[in-house]
Amino acid sequence: MAEVTFKIYRYKPGAIDPPRYDTYRVSIEPHTTVLDVLEHLRLDDPTLTYRHSCHHGSCGTCGMLVNGKEVLACVTRVADLKTDTVVIEPLRHQPLISDLVVDMTPFFEKYEPVGMPYIRESEYLPHSQPPEEVGAYTRFENCLECGLCLSACPVVGSDPDYLGPAALAAAARVVQEPRGQDVPTVLAMVDTEEGCWRCHAAMECSEVCPNDVDPGGLIMFLRRELLTGTSRSGGKR
Ligand code: SF4
Ligand code: SF4
Ligand code: FES
Repeated sequence: MAEVTFKIYRYKPGAIDPPRYDTYRVSIEPHTTVLDVLEHLRLDDPTLTYRHSCHHGSCGTCGMLVNGKEVLACVTRVADLKTDTVVIEPLRHQPLISDLVVDMTPFFEKYEPVGMPYIRESEYLPHSQPPEEVGAYTRFENCLECGLCLSACPVVGSDPDYLGPAALAAAARVVQEPRGQDVPTVLAMVDTEEGCWRCHAAMECSEVCPNDVDPGGLIMFLRRELLTGTSRSGGKR
């Protein structure tokens, strides 16, 4: 058991009190996660707000900055941070609702027009052996819709009209696997100054993505597609 200091960003927009950092000392076990710490602290302070659901890195709701880096709190072990002071802050570039909770509306406003289906046709698991009553496993798309990539992207921070890494990655997946969608329309959506040409290709988004979507790599794929025109000639791949 080790004692760690946590400094947690606190702010309620519209409140008279300015933003502040509350400091706590918490004993942690080797397996204690950042989300465990927040849940522990909330027992004494129910006004502390943060998002979470699944507790195992699949719902994408618990994104936050931990010592300046975008992470999912539920799968970030405090011991792995190898520091005795942990600063917890809300994600960047998205409107703040309360403490560690940001408004994901701008994220979904850019993401949803692409209309990406959830199921990957290309990667069902043919060699898996599900129990008889299950029939077959289904492979879902990788993106958790967590918004970590938007927070890490400096272009999103400087240009609110930029489509951003998650939406562009979703568009690239449509191009790779159309599943009935109109590929030329999706390519036209991203072939703009605020689309894939706005990216500066330093890959901060891919670095923080918790599920290996590699949005930066997919943006480069879109650029190649637009330059070669393969998909615009009938969407055949
Ligand atoms: S590679 Fe592009 S989308 Fe990713 S963080 Fe950099 S500018 Fe943003
Ligand atoms: S691309 Fe990765 S970081 Fe961005 S929203 Fe999807 S899962 Fe999260
Ligand atoms: S609580 Fe679901 S990803 Fe962290």
